Amino acid sequence: MSAKRSSIHGQWSSRWAFILAATGSAVGLGNIWRFPYLTGENGGAAFVLVYLICVLMVGIPILMAEILVGRRGRQSPINTMYALAEEEGLSRYWSLLGWMGVAAGFIILSYYSVIAGWTVAYIFRTGSGLFIDADATYSKKIFVELISDPEKLLAWHTTFMLMTVIVVSRGVKSGLEQAVRFLMPALFILLLVMVGYAMSTEKFMDGINYLFVPNFEQLAEKNFFADILLPALGQAFFSLSIGMGAIMIYGSYLSQRSSITFNSFTIAIADTTVAMLAGIAIFPIVFTYGLEPGGGPGLIFMSLPIAFGQMPFGTFFGTLFFVLLMFAAWTSAISLLEPAVTWLVENKNMSRVKATALAGVIGWLLGLITVLSFNYWAFSFEFAGVVKENGMFDIFDILTSNVMLPIGGLLIAIFTAWLMARKSTIDELGLGDSLLYQSWRFAVRYIAPFGVIIIFLNAIGLFKLIGLVN
Ligand code: PHE
Repeated sequence: MSAKRSSIHGQWSSRWAFILAATGSAVGLGNIWRFPYLTGENGGAAFVLVYLICVLMVGIPILMAEILVGRRGRQSPINTMYALAEEEGLSRYWSLLGWMGVAAGFIILSYYSVIAGWTVAYIFRTGSGLFIDADATYSKKIFVELISDPEKLLAWHTTFMLMTVIVVSRGVKSGLEQAVRFLMPALFILLLVMVGYAMSTEKFMDGINYLFVPNFEQLAEKNFFADILLPALGQAFFSLSIGMGAIMIYGSYLSQRSSITFNSFTIAIADTTVAMLAGIAIFPIVFTYGLEPGGGPGLIFMSLPIAFGQMPFGTFFGTLFFVLLMFAAWTSAISLLEPAVTWLVENKNMSRVKATALAGVIGWLLGLITVLSFNYWAFSFEFAGVVKENGMFDIFDILTSNVMLPIGGLLIAIFTAWLMARKSTIDELGLGDSLLYQSWRFAVRYIAPFGVIIIFLNAIGLFKLIGLVN
């Protein structure tokens, strides 16, 4: 029965369209902005290693589960969960999973748009040759000037949110495919250029060691579960766009014949490669120019412009880099809004344009909190052994990546591997009862849920730090 269901919002135009769109969703600020700065805050290679394990053991299996659910339900995540729960004879409260995803989507979008606004601002800063021969003090100063001015942040946040709303209101399927097809490879090549520059810097090997050779002594000082595992797990969810319905809604436009397994591995490999390249490009610069690896969310904005100021054709490459990063952020932001918009269209009988405008306004308003958390409302607190300085922005970020997305993923894993009939998932994955299928099922049945639960239980102590428990 469900094999015949089709989405009222349409289907992808080709086999590659889904992979491109989902990769567009996955690859974004998470890879190039968030991954390096978290790695820096968490001390380097141990974090990277744990992150890679999380992607493989928890991320990819849940990615597959989420696409599977989306394709079977073929509606907004809220209605998909409702329909599938009914079909499998389960409680309708499963639709709450969809609601939590929509909420997480709004919160992430609200700050994502502010940070994406920084990349737009940096297109102009780099393009005007501002960073030629810049040193670390100067690039820091430019960054601090930007974030301490709420009016500027507001203007760029508004610009980026409008861009997102315009694309989503037209339906994500038309332009997205073309954009990702050309821009992603371009971003990839440019990252290789950056890696090439990094290789020419004095401290290239320091950067590589920092990223890939774990320092176990330093690790012993940390609480492994709360300080390393939780942020690494959160980053895996954030970077793969899983746990909130973004990939589920893209899966709902996926043709019945397309292989979920192949698609998932392709997306995850592309996503992880981009993050690693970003790290390799950034840390040698950080060390060569004496920046602080744990410098927080400004890390790439303070480090990369120095490189652009030094390398041949740096103004050109730098401008292009921020343009491509803006596009990567754009294709991710679109997927953050899509679950809410499809629900409004399905349930509130709204036109797509109206639904998107409404959702955009909500995301924009919430974003004002982030705008102010870098200046007037800034306050600091400690989380997982790291001092976070940007109050509400950090709380939003921690709450979504480290709490809401993993809970979403946990529920998806329980739903697909414990509650859905085995036959339903076999039908949908199309792997038969093969070893590959059994490995997937083992991962979503045991590794993912128990992994998330254990990490949570161990990390509960962190709530003390933000004052939620004594
Ligand atoms: N994966 C995106 C990135 O890395 C962010 C994102 C998270 C998008 C969750 C959709 C859902 O930038």
